[in-house]
Amino acid sequence: MFKGILVDKTEQDYNAEVKTLEEDVLINGDTLVRVSYSTLNYKDALAITGKSPVIRKFTMIPGIDLAGTVETCSTGKFNPGDEVLLNGFGVGEIQSGGLAQKALLKSDWLIPLPSALSAKQAMAIGTAGYTAMLCVMALEQHGIKPEVGEILVTGANGGVGSFAIAILAKLGYTVVASTGRVEESEYLKNLGATEVMDRSQLSQPGRPLAKERWAGVIDSVGSHTLVNACASTQYGGMVAACGLAQGMDLPGTVAPFILRGITLAGIDSVMRPIADRVEAWDRLANLLDADTLDKASKEISLTQAIDAAHDLIAGKIQGRIVIKMD
Ligand SMILES: NC(=O)c1ccc[n+]([C@@H]2O[C@H](COP(=O)([O-])OP(=O)(O)OC[C@H]3O[C@@H](n4cnc5c(N)ncnc54)[C@H](OP(=O)(O)O)[C@@H]3O)[C@@H](O)[C@H]2O)c1
Repeated sequence: MFKGILVDKTEQDYNAEVKTLEEDVLINGDTLVRVSYSTLNYKDALAITGKSPVIRKFTMIPGIDLAGTVETCSTGKFNPGDEVLLNGFGVGEIQSGGLAQKALLKSDWLIPLPSALSAKQAMAIGTAGYTAMLCVMALEQHGIKPEVGEILVTGANGGVGSFAIAILAKLGYTVVASTGRVEESEYLKNLGATEVMDRSQLSQPGRPLAKERWAGVIDSVGSHTLVNACASTQYGGMVAACGLAQGMDLPGTVAPFILRGITLAGIDSVMRPIADRVEAWDRLANLLDADTLDKASKEISLTQAIDAAHDLIAGKIQGRIVIKMD
């Protein structure tokens, strides 16, 4: 028996509750993990509240991230007692997820927990930090070095945006943060932003080409913001697009691509191959110190997670929520 959040949907009702569950609710896996920590991403909050159709199979244990200890592994890839980490792969959407004391997973989805990180620290980073690292790696692979120029980070106060700023600053980049919450400028500057701009400068329809400014962009916002970011990227620069906080649309022109040779790189964290995950997590473990992670996260219990999901959707939460399973 173990405790977990169970989400159920009927024609009349959408319900999320902490329940005592039996192991036979866990199916389609070869590796049983005792979860020690999980986290609450925006996607998890959508799944718990039912605000968006994240869950594709009911009933479901939500939670796209988890860290814990292997109990059994029938493939032999991991040994009992190994500490592991999981992000995405449809977990918490079509496969029972991390917001429970146990999870049955495929060993191919798991990576070893980096030795420099505790399970709690890994969940303070979560999919948000891992996706930010993938965006930074994309800029690096495009040859954008710190000396080339300023990097724009949109959705700066969000999970992805905050980690993108912290990582870029640690690597020596000059970061300009775009936000709707300019009153949080001090927080963003403490993370490493050198300048903070109001997101309204980017969120309205703009011209096909604007003054060249950014060497690179990390965008978690989409829509007009992404289009305007492309239009103001320097010749040969790159924009890493990972999110849709403003919208899923892309109402722009091809001008920045065919006249300035800029590259728009799509970043997906969910189905990312294991080698990239291991690289991203090793880099995160080396770059982010314990103090930063402690300050950026708040620990709550599994029973508090459902209320926290509603608060997250209501925009009442700053920083990362880490969920202790015991
Ligand atoms: N591709 C992937 O694999 C992947 C992985 C993780 C997340 N994502 C996506 O990336 C996005 C950000 O995720 P997150 O975890 O950082 O979410 P989050 O913590 O909710 O942050 C989103 C941020 O976007 C900004 N924003 C919100 N509404 C906006 C609007 N209408 N116009 C412009 N900006 C707006 C806000 O930043 P300010 O307050 O600073 O303006 C907000 O804090 C989401 O769309 C998420 O689905 C994708």
